[in-house]
Amino acid sequence: MSRRTVYMDHSATTPVREEVVEAMLPFYHELFGNPSSIHAPGRTVRRAVEEAREKTALALGAEPGEIFFTAGGTESNNITLRGAAKKRGEPGHIITSSIEHHAVLDVCSELAAEGHRVTFLPVDQYGRVSIDQLQEAITPDTFLISIMAANNEIGTLQPISAIGEVARERKILFHTDAVQIAGQLPIDLKKLNVDFLSLSAHKFNGPKGIGALYVRKGAKVTPLYSGGGQERKLRPGTENVPGIVGLSRAMELAVAEIKDKKKRLEALRYKMITGLMAIDETILNGHPEERLPNNVNVSFKHVEGEAVLLSLDLEGIAASSGSACSSGSLDPSHVLRAIGLDHPTAHGSIRFSLGWGNTEEDVDYLLEVIPRVVNNLRRISPTYRTNGSRKE
Ligand SMILES: Cc1ncc(COP(=O)(O)O)c(C=O)c1O
Repeated sequence: MSRRTVYMDHSATTPVREEVVEAMLPFYHELFGNPSSIHAPGRTVRRAVEEAREKTALALGAEPGEIFFTAGGTESNNITLRGAAKKRGEPGHIITSSIEHHAVLDVCSELAAEGHRVTFLPVDQYGRVSIDQLQEAITPDTFLISIMAANNEIGTLQPISAIGEVARERKILFHTDAVQIAGQLPIDLKKLNVDFLSLSAHKFNGPKGIGALYVRKGAKVTPLYSGGGQERKLRPGTENVPGIVGLSRAMELAVAEIKDKKKRLEALRYKMITGLMAIDETILNGHPEERLPNNVNVSFKHVEGEAVLLSLDLEGIAASSGSACSSGSLDPSHVLRAIGLDHPTAHGSIRFSLGWGNTEEDVDYLLEVIPRVVNNLRRISPTYRTNGSRKE
């Protein structure tokens, strides 16, 4: 097969769809008014923002008044976690998991440094939290549970509905970071017992720097910012109107196509996993079934994930690795350690995340290239002999 360009890093970000760009463009040009202005140009844009809110709410099974536009997943998480702590006003207890994205994990660590108690629930070998352990962790001063809907590295889905039931029974606020699940699997907020849910448009073929926060009617947090009255004071500042319109259009398209996309990506994922597991000493990370349709995360023993990534990049394939993250640290990711991988295995892990434009030919190309890449690296690996056994 001839060389091709294959993007398999859709969990990092996705391309913006043409229909989304088209919907956004007028709001950079003729429809540039400030939605807070009372004149006609302002009112027209206000209408567009409110229509976007209605569409987003409809796609999620929420009421328009429950949708707040933010600057993305990180901001939605911060507004909820810090806002809930601010509202409480005195130290209390928060429960989260040990495999959250840093936009939750680091906020929780900071809140702990400020006097709150935080339980970081462990996960099993597949990355799932246990409902029993969650129940046991609850104390009379637990005021917030934050557990992600799907993990960004290994794709494992959490039992969100069941966690929500526990939270509701015990009258504890429940937040879920749904950044990775949006656009991959249906979200029906009528059925999910969540009080807060974070979204980010650039993960579902929308623009970067725009997100949404669902806040169930009656659930309250104290705003973090001061300023104007935009987004009912929860997120003051002049609205990112093109972004808001783009998010709602991307959401609308994603929801309309979700069934077909899921089926198509699951078939590609199955083919990829089967092909990758045929390479000896390769393990699948994450849950075998309860995982995002677009996520494949594997560890190739005796190789460095970074080296595999660079070799794949030279062959035109973009993926992501679980070690040496943006911080420049050489520590393997907290997620891979939490599911029990030893350091060398975690260092050999690669995440492939499929998306809208990927085809069967992309998967064929990857499966043609990768055995060669892994074998070449293993040949120079001090822990691997060509017969596949480990050296002492
Ligand atoms: C699970 C999860 N939460 C939050 C974020 C942060 O979202 P944003 O880039 O919109 O701030 C990401 C992005 O990688 C993510 O995967």
